[in-house]
This record gives sequence, structure tokens and C-alpha cells, in this order.
Amino acid sequence: MDLLEAALAARANAHAPYSGFKVGAALRCADGSVFAGCNVENVALPQGTCAEAGAIAAMVAAGRKAIVEVLVVADGPMTIAPCGGCRQKLAEFDPAAAPVILAGPEGARARTQVGALLPGAFGPLHLGPA
Ligand code: THU
Repeated sequence: MDLLEAALAARANAHAPYSGFKVGAALRCADGSVFAGCNVENVALPQGTCAEAGAIAAMVAAGRKAIVEVLVVADGPMTIAPCGGCRQKLAEFDPAAAPVILAGPEGARARTQVGALLPGAFGPLHLGPA
């Protein structure tokens, strides 16, 4: 399944009445399955969730955890940049070197990696030996 197509389909359902900024995200897993999400805003503004968080929740609920590719799409004047919290959320499941495609509705605008988006990430090793 095409990640841009999946992310755009989710983005079309975004609930973004407060910012007017609709975002879609799609994740491909090691077994080829694809999960998508959109941002879901709330009148109590901090309760809103990002598209990446929705896609990750759908993936985990379906029993998958191994992300191999991510695409985030929005339609702004600048290329979308995943927020800090979503960078940490992606780092939980996405290997540092896996591609992260930042897209507009027309297609990819930039390619990066979680390791580049979140250098020096807090990770399981910081917890010390179990
Ligand atoms: N947003 C996302 O869904 N993902 C991102 O990577 C950046 C921002 C959402 C949050 C909020 O609903 C809207 O975009 C404006 O900040």
C-alpha cells in the first residue's frame, strides 16, 4: 500500500477545527502492513493528539511494533516537521536509520530519519540494567 495514499486518506478525516491544520501519518511495518492516523484536536487544547500518535496507536492495537518507514503529510507553506513529542514516540518503534518522508499533498518534500530528527534520544539504555 502506498504510504502517501494512506496518509492522505487519514488526513482527510482529521479533526482540526482549532488550528485548521490537517495532518496525516502512515507507518509501514516489517510485515508490510500499513497503519495511518490523523490529528484529533480538542476544545481543551492540550488534549489534542497528533497524526503520528494516532498511527502508532493503531499499529500497536493491531499487534505490530516494528516500523520500517514513516510518512507524514500536511499542506503548509513549509515542509511538515514532526513535533518533539512525536519524534520521541516514533523513536520508540522506529529504528534510528529508518526513512521518514515529509510530504505535501503532491508527494515527498524531504527525506530524513528518526535518528536525525531526535539526536541523543532518551532510550531504554538510559534506564540502566533491569
Ligand atoms: N500536528 C501533527 O498532527 N503532527 C505533527 O507532526 C505536527 C503537528 C498537529 C497538531 C495540531 O492538531 C496541528 O497539527 C497544529 O499544530
